[in-house]
Amino acid sequence: MVDQLIRYLKEKYADESSGHDFEHRYRVYLNAIKINEVERENETLVTLLSFLHDEFDDKFYQGDVESDLKSLLDKCNIALSRENFDVLLSDITNFGFKGGFNDNPLSRVGQIVSDADQLDAIGAIGIARAFMYGGSTKSRMYNKDVEYQPLASYREYRGKRPVLWHFLDKLLLLKDKMKTQTGKQMAIDRHQFMLEFLNQFEKESGYGFNHQLRE
Ligand code: ADP
Ligand code: NI
Repeated sequence: MVDQLIRYLKEKYADESSGHDFEHRYRVYLNAIKINEVERENETLVTLLSFLHDEFDDKFYQGDVESDLKSLLDKCNIALSRENFDVLLSDITNFGFKGGFNDNPLSRVGQIVSDADQLDAIGAIGIARAFMYGGSTKSRMYNKDVEYQPLASYREYRGKRPVLWHFLDKLLLLKDKMKTQTGKQMAIDRHQFMLEFLNQFEKESGYGFNHQLRE
């Protein structure tokens, strides 16, 4: 059912380098299917939202989500009931961490895919994606002379911030924000790995914010 959509996304994102490539979408799908083995929600919706959750993100898309989503599904020969289409549309619209400034409600399917997406933002992959993202926005890695400034707005979150700050802005918070039991479980060793990474980073560079982590 989703073969054509997968082919379309693979081609469209062949050269993507800000952390939203096809492989990200595919990993989110695998995480979501794993979570859904316990949750048992509608698998078609879990699959579609996994592949489409970043497609209409306000970071790189401005348009009419409803009509563009409809066209894309038509183009890929995917037919949904009105009810399922509305769930998908609402979850796509409300999706995203957005610096913690987004508390729009998600359906249970949305919560599963949100956990799956946030699992891909932590651990070894999360670290790699953060630096890819930072490179794509030409942000600096860190600056020893400037102390961490907590986020005050979504606008600030989308501005240029040192990549290392992203650990405090978002990555280290995600473990406690998981919405499903399976997601919580899967987050534990990824979180631990990030702490080890930050420790090692501090050893090698002399730059760290471990004192802030302990506060
Ligand atoms: P959002 O945080 O709004 O959900 P994304 O999930 O689309 O944004 O971000 C894509 C990837 O880039 C994720 O791995 C995310 O942690 C990372 N990322 C987002 N913003 C930044 C940033 N300011 N600095 C470094 N990495 C970032
Ligand atoms: Ni994503």
